[in-house]
Amino acid sequence: MTWLHIDPHKCNKDAICVAECPSAVIQMHAPDGYPGLTPDASEHCLYCGHCVAVCPEAALTLDWLDPGACPPVDPALRISSHQAEQFLRSRRSIRTFKDQPVEHERLEKLIEIACHAPSAKNQQPWHWVVVEDRDQVKRLAAMVIDWIRLAIRQEPETAKKRGLPRVVEQWDRGDERICRGAPHVIVAHGDKSWPFGTQDCTLALSYLDLFAPTLGLGTCWGGYFFTAANHYPPLSEALGIPPEHKAYGAMMVGYPRYRYHRLPLRKPPKVAWK
Ligand SMILES: Cc1cc2nc3c(=O)[nH]c(=O)nc-3n(C[C@H](O)[C@H](O)[C@H](O)COP(=O)(O)O)c2cc1C
Repeated sequence: MTWLHIDPHKCNKDAICVAECPSAVIQMHAPDGYPGLTPDASEHCLYCGHCVAVCPEAALTLDWLDPGACPPVDPALRISSHQAEQFLRSRRSIRTFKDQPVEHERLEKLIEIACHAPSAKNQQPWHWVVVEDRDQVKRLAAMVIDWIRLAIRQEPETAKKRGLPRVVEQWDRGDERICRGAPHVIVAHGDKSWPFGTQDCTLALSYLDLFAPTLGLGTCWGGYFFTAANHYPPLSEALGIPPEHKAYGAMMVGYPRYRYHRLPLRKPPKVAWK
């Protein structure tokens, strides 16, 4: 009984699937010389689909992944290095949003693309909360301020170092610096015990962040927002984040009010060349 199937009419025994399998659970099987699974494959397979995706002949099928179901890589859609450089350098944190909600389908598309980020052991450990209701975003931002006020009372010195009193003063003047008037917030959360939760969810949110402008959307990390979600139970409860989970990041989402015309510069890299 195997869950990897080789079409002998297509397979040319090039062993590319063996070379590319990240967990070495495919080997060339004697005596027929076709690829097959190692005895411990079920235990170690990452279910990443690389073997199906890399086979030039589409000769390899898994019970759960058919090459015909995997969209082909379209060479016509490859972007040049110049295009990639401008794309990456022109991504900006957006902090002023139009008074216009984002269509449900676009929010869904953001999450879909975010889920193609790499993750340790291909665990894809992220869970998502999408706050679609603008009034709810405002209520949640107010809860963040409640937590900040509490933090200022409990640890005034630390709070001062983090600039928290200023955020509250701004809020009290009607200047909302938590969600910046964004119509939506997306939170990535996951099991607290997963050691790569921070990296995995940050990468997924970065995919979301990078993809957003292609849909005409603007995003900004909500640092106060997700920190509060991890320290203020009323907020995590309002978001529906279970106690065994942690908020690993939050992103404000909306249509940007303004367009950027230039690429700002960054600090020179601090590199040790060895
Ligand atoms: C983990 C993290 C948390 C952040 N939190 C906030 C935040 O709470 N509010 C905000 O306006 N910007 C926040 N930012 C955005 C940064 O200020 C921004 O990325 C930085 O100034 C560089 O600007 P750019 O993103 O336009 O290149 C955060 C960014 C990161 C990576």
